[in-house]
Amino acid sequence: MTGRLLAEPLRHPIIRTGRTKGTIHTGKDEETRRFERIERFDRIGKINQSEDSKRFGSSRKTGRAGRLSSKGAGTADGNGHIEIKGARLHNLKGLNVRFPLERLVCVSGVSGSGKSTLVQEVLFENLHRLLQKSKKRTYGKDPVLIGCSGMSGWERVQRVLEVNQTPIGKTPRSCPATYVGFWDEVRRLFARLPEAMMRGYGSSRFSFNVAGGRCEVCAGQGIKKIAMSFLPDVSVVCEACDGKRFNQETLAVCFKGRSISDVLSMSVDEAVDFFAFHPTIHHPLRLLQDVGLGYLTLGQQSPTLSGGEAQRIKLVTELAKTRWLNGPALKTTRGEVATPLSKRDPPLQGDGNEDTVIAGGEKDSKLARARTGSRYIHTLYVLDEPTIGLHMADVEKLIRVLHRLVNAGNTVVIIEHNLDMIAEADWIIDLGPEGGSRGGRIVAKGSPEIVARTQNGSYTAEILHHFLKERTSHR
Ligand SMILES: Nc1ncnc2c1ncn2[C@@H]1O[C@H](COP(=O)(O)OP(=O)(O)O)[C@@H](O)[C@H]1O
Ligand SMILES: [Mg+2]
Ligand SMILES: [Zn+2]
Repeated sequence: MTGRLLAEPLRHPIIRTGRTKGTIHTGKDEETRRFERIERFDRIGKINQSEDSKRFGSSRKTGRAGRLSSKGAGTADGNGHIEIKGARLHNLKGLNVRFPLERLVCVSGVSGSGKSTLVQEVLFENLHRLLQKSKKRTYGKDPVLIGCSGMSGWERVQRVLEVNQTPIGKTPRSCPATYVGFWDEVRRLFARLPEAMMRGYGSSRFSFNVAGGRCEVCAGQGIKKIAMSFLPDVSVVCEACDGKRFNQETLAVCFKGRSISDVLSMSVDEAVDFFAFHPTIHHPLRLLQDVGLGYLTLGQQSPTLSGGEAQRIKLVTELAKTRWLNGPALKTTRGEVATPLSKRDPPLQGDGNEDTVIAGGEKDSKLARARTGSRYIHTLYVLDEPTIGLHMADVEKLIRVLHRLVNAGNTVVIIEHNLDMIAEADWIIDLGPEGGSRGGRIVAKGSPEIVARTQNGSYTAEILHHFLKERTSHR
């Protein structure tokens, strides 16, 4: 069994506020509420040392009680919920289910109990349809719902997104820096250097995806593919640029002694220090570091990332967008606002988000606005068994990112049987009791503590009970 795990487990706002008699955030404003989540997060890591701790400074001494000691019934309703009525698909037995919003919700249960059916085919699919319709502002008939008789409370959600471990695109032109989206900012930083201004280089000069500053022999790839008959293609380092991806003139422009090519070959860890005084670049780099990807190279080709790495990069990309939620942070030191989507590197076939299912076509003004910070978008993330193939150290990192997404005001729904993950969820919906036709019912629901106390044949409840007990005794 994994676990004993998170030395400092997260706390659960739902259960904790159970002490305040049912209502979750009575009399607390947005800020306090966010702080509380952020604070509890703090306990498992140093994640929020930078901005958040400054922001919330002195007020963070309140409410330190560990969540396992708290009493009272948890409630899911503090921030509203999506309610699905009469879910009846495959083996689901006409379920009425509530998914609390702005929470990390975990759907558990034995294999074949109906988790994917409920989350993917009913929740995700219907939400997707409803959102598309509301986006088009067609006032006609409501879309036909699949596998359920009704769905309410979804209106606060503006976007639904599935995050999986499939590779990020197929194009070698995508890399962590471009995918997460801070590469534009790096290019603009280079374009502002005196040397670049003197030569009249704009930021596109520092792109390896458009002609101008890149090495044209390898088209900015640094490698060339040689087709071999009967054998797979062979890659060789481009001899014109020696793998540097840019031409000599471009490479002559240096920031703190490093060329744009040097930056591409930096690791995230190095780059965090290198760009320490450029918040718009530094922040996403810190996020990558926080989720344990400090060793990645900024220019590593996205298709070469492992499944777990790809998944965390996708999540960091989402997290990087939510940064702007906390204030006018998108202003750079010089006071300008980050690049609108239209001015970013030209979209490339297969670059970016195609592996994530996106409601209503992502490349729209909403995302642009999310990126430029003028509006924050409540996103519901769906993850089906995200810990598959992950080492338990990576599971912990994943849990942290998911909680940060929730802290930023989003909703995360995961299907999971990993106990570490289940124990750190805000809300559990346990399906079962068995697989197939003997499953498809809700056997337990509530915060981990509540589920652990449930005794009605829920396997999750039983295992969680021992798990939590053992964990408290280890502290
Ligand atoms: N397309 C389908 N047609 C018929 N039965 C299905 C279909 N998809 C899943 N099922 C059945 O529904 C039950 C629940 O499946 P699923 O939701 O995938 O379970 P879980 O994700 O919890 O492992 C299983 O018994 C499965 O065999
Ligand atoms: Mg499944
Ligand atoms: Zn070249």
